[in-house]
Amino acid sequence: AEILVLNGPNLNTLGKRDPGIYGSVTLEQIQARLRERAASLGATVECVQSNHEGVLIDTIQQYAERVEGIIINPGAFTHYSYALRDALAGTRLPIIEVHLSNIYAREPFRHESVIAPISYGHIAGLGWRGYLLALEALVAFLQEQK
Ligand code: DQA
Repeated sequence: AEILVLNGPNLNTLGKRDPGIYGSVTLEQIQARLRERAASLGATVECVQSNHEGVLIDTIQQYAERVEGIIINPGAFTHYSYALRDALAGTRLPIIEVHLSNIYAREPFRHESVIAPISYGHIAGLGWRGYLLALEALVAFLQEQK
């Protein structure tokens, strides 16, 4: 299975950004761990990060026909981007939303996700491991579908 792994705004600064909240692992390290785990599961991942809402939407549209599922950390777009939500919903693919931090233990504006209602599942607060758990769950789910 080919899986698209999307990261939204500011996640390119992982490692430097609020390490107390987001940890000290960089996005490149997370992506390397995802590629490695994907290989061991017989899957592949395409990893894209953008700070721009429109680029994330273009990427979703471009990959929609090619991939079997999407793992996304939408960053702050989680809380208000109906455009991103519509793009994800439009693919009809299984979506897993990942947050490094436990968004429910933080400021009230982070408690709502406009992506969660259209997602297959949601992981928050487990740090970088959340991405690997999402990958395992998505690959297992896709295998069950076949
Ligand atoms: C985040 C949580 C969001 O509220 C925040 O804006 C981020 C990162 C997380 O991974 O915990 O950029 O999605």
